[in-house]
Amino acid sequence: MELETERLVLREYSPNDVNDIILKINDLDVSKYLEVVPYPYTSEDGEWFVNHCVENSKKTPRDKYEMAITLKESGEFIGGVGLSNIDTYVGSAELGYWIGKNYWRQGIMTEAIDALINFAFYKLELNRLILSAYVPNTGSNELAKKLGFTLEGTTRQSARTKSTGKIYDTNCWGLLKQEWRK
Ligand SMILES: CC(C)(COP(=O)(O)OP(=O)(O)OC[C@H]1O[C@@H](n2cnc3c(N)ncnc32)[C@H](O)[C@@H]1OP(=O)(O)O)[C@@H](O)C(=O)NCCC(=O)NCCS
Repeated sequence: MELETERLVLREYSPNDVNDIILKINDLDVSKYLEVVPYPYTSEDGEWFVNHCVENSKKTPRDKYEMAITLKESGEFIGGVGLSNIDTYVGSAELGYWIGKNYWRQGIMTEAIDALINFAFYKLELNRLILSAYVPNTGSNELAKKLGFTLEGTTRQSARTKSTGKIYDTNCWGLLKQEWRK
């Protein structure tokens, strides 16, 4: 699967991405609010992740789409965005995302997620997307709000991050297809 936007190409991961993933994600500012990303992030971690994505991309039907975010002009890998826990019976899936710190606040994640949401609603025919953000993760909570997600509740002391071992309350955001701009 591949999605193109004005500035980005979202593509499947390849084993060549391991070093670039490490360069961008081995940074606590990036991983401190990501549940399953270790710190420090080793080449074994990167290899495990990429293999997992490659194996998953061969499944039919797929229960997740983990996509590499690359800059269209240079091909540079800058982060990741994914749909997981795809449940075609309910019509729901969960969104997750990160990009390297040098690329924050340039509207890049909005552009990437926009494309993935359109894919989820209009290609996969899903009806509901879920986004979980820890309460102190201002960037992610503000992004969810700006995309039009509704805060559906907060689960208390419900997640522990691998990078720091800290426990967080989690905001649960939801977006229905009928609420999404075309
Ligand atoms: C959260 C994250 C993905 C945002 O990516 P981004 O490309 O910087 O987001 P955008 O530039 O598209 O921002 C869109 C809107 O989100 C909000 N936003 C994003 N980062 C913000 C921040 N640090 N503080 C406040 N609002 C923020 C703003 O409303 C912004 O719009 P504006 O710039 O016009 O004001 C990025 O900071 C990141 O990768 N963080 C680390 C990983 C992470 O926490 N992932 C999410 C786990 S739930």
